[in-house]
Amino acid sequence: MSEPRTALVTGGSRGIGAATVLALAERGFNVVVNYLSRAQEARQLARQAEAQGVRALAIQADVSDYQAVGRMTEQILAELGGLQVLVNNAGFTQHARLEALLPADWERMLAVTLSGAFYCAQEAAAAMKRAGWGRIVNLSSLRALTGSDHGAHYAAAKAGLIGLTRALALELAPEITVNAVAPGYTLTEMNRQVFAQQGQQICAQIPLGRFAQPEEIAALIAYLCSEQAGYLTGQTISANGGIYLG
Ligand SMILES: NC(=O)c1ccc[n+]([C@@H]2O[C@H](COP(=O)([O-])OP(=O)(O)OC[C@H]3O[C@@H](n4cnc5c(N)ncnc54)[C@H](OP(=O)(O)O)[C@@H]3O)[C@@H](O)[C@H]2O)c1
Repeated sequence: MSEPRTALVTGGSRGIGAATVLALAERGFNVVVNYLSRAQEARQLARQAEAQGVRALAIQADVSDYQAVGRMTEQILAELGGLQVLVNNAGFTQHARLEALLPADWERMLAVTLSGAFYCAQEAAAAMKRAGWGRIVNLSSLRALTGSDHGAHYAAAKAGLIGLTRALALELAPEITVNAVAPGYTLTEMNRQVFAQQGQQICAQIPLGRFAQPEEIAALIAYLCSEQAGYLTGQTISANGGIYLG
């Protein structure tokens, strides 16, 4: 039997990332749960993933820190022997209109969302090329496609990820596929407050009438990481309940 492949999920400690860690572990990947601050959640999730008979690590690293991403990759290669799948999922949101956005807000958003994805992809692609096989999935957003009237930095960074996806798809073919997923409203901590305050109003605008569960987004990501998705690259796939049909 061939060695299990290893998947790194950035921001894997909760929400869509945590659901993706479990979906990939169920499919036989060794998994790495990257996190920023929630060590306990990340370690617990790694133990849960191990129950699927795979190996799992929890690694703290701020993806916006180039050196930290390098150290994380070294640890993965030393402990698990390779890296074949990268899910660039780490992210955060901040509701602020243009006049309230500070340069530091803008810079932090781009550093985590866009530079973080670039740093991780650069490290991972080198390992994937050595393996002759790889999958990269970038978490974009509905907001990249529709814009946003309360988060220009978030919409811009998520749209940047679509450009990064297309560029890397061209550059890393044919061994490595690179795709993006653009979720709509998904029930995680990121938008719990929005859901509590405006849930009914938002659901009324969604043709499927509800928010997504993180597991539904994770299933799409896991498919894009599979052998079967081998002819898909450079695409941005929306999972948004039909709220935007572009
Ligand atoms: N939820 C939605 O409706 C929705 C819609 C469209 C797109 N998305 C995108 O999907 C992805 C996951 O969203 P989510 O709702 O699951 O988010 P979430 O529940 O808020 O979780 C965010 C994750 O990112 C990690 N993280 C944040 N900053 C980081 C950094 N600098 N370095 C490393 N890890 C970092 C957090 O780690 P800690 O736990 O350690 O803090 C956590 O694991 C994000 O990129 C988000 O923009 C979400």
